[in-house]
Amino acid sequence: VLGGVLFDLDGVITDTAELHYQAWKELADELGIPFDREYNEKLKGVDRMASLKLILQNGDRKFSLEDMQRLADRKNERYRELLLTLTPEALLPGVRKLLKALRRDGIRIALASASRNAATVLDRLGVTDLFDFVADAGAVALQKPDAEIFLNAAEGLGVHPLRCIGIEDAEAGVVAIHRAGMQAVGIGTEETLPDADHHVSSPAELNPALLRE
Ligand code: G6P
Ligand code: MG
Repeated sequence: VLGGVLFDLDGVITDTAELHYQAWKELADELGIPFDREYNEKLKGVDRMASLKLILQNGDRKFSLEDMQRLADRKNERYRELLLTLTPEALLPGVRKLLKALRRDGIRIALASASRNAATVLDRLGVTDLFDFVADAGAVALQKPDAEIFLNAAEGLGVHPLRCIGIEDAEAGVVAIHRAGMQAVGIGTEETLPDADHHVSSPAELNPALLRE
């Protein structure tokens, strides 16, 4: 019996990838490192420091760990400024309705995002109250495709992983959901998410009855 639904954030609830892109782009430009939207795709679901390393790879300068920490902090400050432009209108279509319907049916709801800014994003979108638990990305040692963040989220809900479904738009996330022993709904196609158990093109196509099935 379905007990909990675990949501990824970027690409599932809202599109923060564009704001991450803008913040990284400013940094890359300052450093004279090439960076574009296509390369930004590689950063989806990848944590902050690993993202920075992927960007620095395209430059020829070496940075100390301390320098990298400063660069990551600088990007995050800029990203947080950009988050101030987020409003409830940035929720992807159908998300609020889905969250409310799940709640009405007594299904518990958690967020399983790699972003340490996840709680801020939910606040800006005005949906904090609709989540029963937000997994702490800062407390997670192993990134997706490891199962850890999804297992944390299920535990936070007090629902056994086998009674949870995860919703993801990235293949690494789908793999993480499966490693956690859960069914995975993919926002995407068979091509982009070959391992997902069920595909939809938008969260607007989901409802509690479909997820139970
Ligand atoms: C999500 C995004 C990534 C981002 C990561 C960490 O997974 O898809 O692009 O790097 O979160 O975000 P943070 O807000 O902690 O820097
Ligand atoms: Mg995502």
